[in-house]
Amino acid sequence: MSDTRHFLTLLDFSPSELMQLLDRAAEMKREHRAGKDLRDFPGVTLAMIFAKSSTRTRVSFEAGMSQLGGQALFLSPEDTQLGRGEPVEDSARVISSMVDIVMIRTYEQDIVERFAANSAVPVINGLTDDYHPCQLLADMQTWYEHRGSIAGRRVCWVGDGNNMCQSYINAARQFDFELRIACPPGFEPDQALLAANADRVSIEHDPASAARGADLLVTDVWASMGQESEQGERAQLFAPYQLNTELKSHAAGDALYMHCLPAHRGEEISAELMEAQDTVIWEEAENRLHAQKALMEALLLANRQ
Ligand code: CP
Ligand code: NVA
Repeated sequence: MSDTRHFLTLLDFSPSELMQLLDRAAEMKREHRAGKDLRDFPGVTLAMIFAKSSTRTRVSFEAGMSQLGGQALFLSPEDTQLGRGEPVEDSARVISSMVDIVMIRTYEQDIVERFAANSAVPVINGLTDDYHPCQLLADMQTWYEHRGSIAGRRVCWVGDGNNMCQSYINAARQFDFELRIACPPGFEPDQALLAANADRVSIEHDPASAARGADLLVTDVWASMGQESEQGERAQLFAPYQLNTELKSHAAGDALYMHCLPAHRGEEISAELMEAQDTVIWEEAENRLHAQKALMEALLLANRQ
């Protein structure tokens, strides 16, 4: 169990392993579009545990496993004993004795860690309150497909210091880019994570200054899942932090911009940028499918050895 590979944050794979994943994801995308049969994993089962809502994560993992020749099981706490208090550790032992790989979307990062510590098969973090590493695979794949290496580039995160922002901090380390974060005071990412990455990550409260010269601008919702009651208060505090044409004018002329979706037009991102013909946001979403197929392939093969 202890040598089982998991993907709970971007730090679970080395920088060179992450690059191999992105190359394989791009290859799988080309092969899928060319109609190639990718069913190398017949009989394999993916368990997907969702304690929070999802469109992209659910569809991409389920379709991705189907394209790999296996099957995906959707498990929600409302319908399983997880929601009635069965310990995570017991659930991990039982579920991992029956399936080949597990994806979990939940609240505390501690839950995916405890599940993984008791799982005989690889566990993938499909989003927690702290991290969303699968989205970063898709974002980095999208960047690489359009611009090549991101090493040495400048990325600006504008908005909440949330799970996506914290995943960008890990990405700055693993993919070797500079990250400038602009968030309202009081909504910074984790201080220890910032301190550990102070060599390449900086934080300020002026979005235009943070966006200056950026090659990539990224944002996300102002109230994440579980913070719905704070939506009204946050909308006021975050209003100056909208990703829009004015903010983009401070970035590099050919800057890309991304959003993991779902988006709220007129809040964290303008309708104009969402509707722009040249936005990569829709490719970013599609790349979840290919990046996670590459991830599942890598983890399944590692666990067979
Ligand atoms: N970006 C993302 O994870 O979307 P879903 O919440 O729809 O899965
Ligand atoms: N930060 C958002 C991301 C959704 C994909 C949330 O956690 O709700």
